[in-house]
Amino acid sequence: MRIYRAENYQALSRKAANIISAQVIIKPDCVLGLATGSSPIGTYRQLIDWYHKGDLDFAEVRTVNLDEYVGLGPESAQSYVYFMHHHFFDAINIKPANIHIPNGLNHDAQAECARYDAVIDSLGGIDLQLLGIGRNGHIGFNEPGVAFEKFTHCVNLTASTIEANQRFFNSPDEVPRQAYTMGICSIMHARKILLVASGADKAQAVYNSFFGPVTPNVPASVLQLHQDVTLVADEEALAQVKAHGLL
Ligand code: GLP
Repeated sequence: MRIYRAENYQALSRKAANIISAQVIIKPDCVLGLATGSSPIGTYRQLIDWYHKGDLDFAEVRTVNLDEYVGLGPESAQSYVYFMHHHFFDAINIKPANIHIPNGLNHDAQAECARYDAVIDSLGGIDLQLLGIGRNGHIGFNEPGVAFEKFTHCVNLTASTIEANQRFFNSPDEVPRQAYTMGICSIMHARKILLVASGADKAQAVYNSFFGPVTPNVPASVLQLHQDVTLVADEEALAQVKAHGLL
């Protein structure tokens, strides 16, 4: 595992964008696994900036997103498909046909998850998977207790995640209770993994995930078993790691 310490969110975003750029430049038709949440927004902003400067070309890039709320579609401003278009896709030259996100409007969970796994397979797997991390150590929507061997599946969101994500909705009642998410197995099959973490409320999760025991109770801890993981975190998110004298 490689850890990049960033002074602040801007520096973190720039470093993460640099790593993604390297991937796109080395393999212009690469498959990027993408994430939502507030953590990667700065990374997307930086990539858009470099695209406008002519340094990056997304014409052949294919993307697969980690997850989507069940019941929300592109019309809903809280859906992840909306988020991705708003924060990234609409500002770059990616081809719509190359964008893949679980379809939250398909209520047949088994069919949707199987379809999504087949999409990832048909693309030849993920070259670089970008991840954020939940306060409880979740990745994608793989909540504590998830079986490590899962591919795309339907999950019931925990109270902690519903509470954390309610800021994007008018009220906690509006937060969907379920989501489709790539499983731990889907994520672990990515050839490279890049996790971005920012802010004090991630400090415990970062410490537990990268320096604690590997356990389904902290889903991101499984990343310790991956051969090519890069963590880019700001000083606040690294506070617990530093407090334990590990940096
Ligand atoms: C959601 C997403 C995760 C994301 C997490 C943290 O639960 N499903 O992929 O990592 O939120 O989000 P944030 O970066 O806003 O803290």
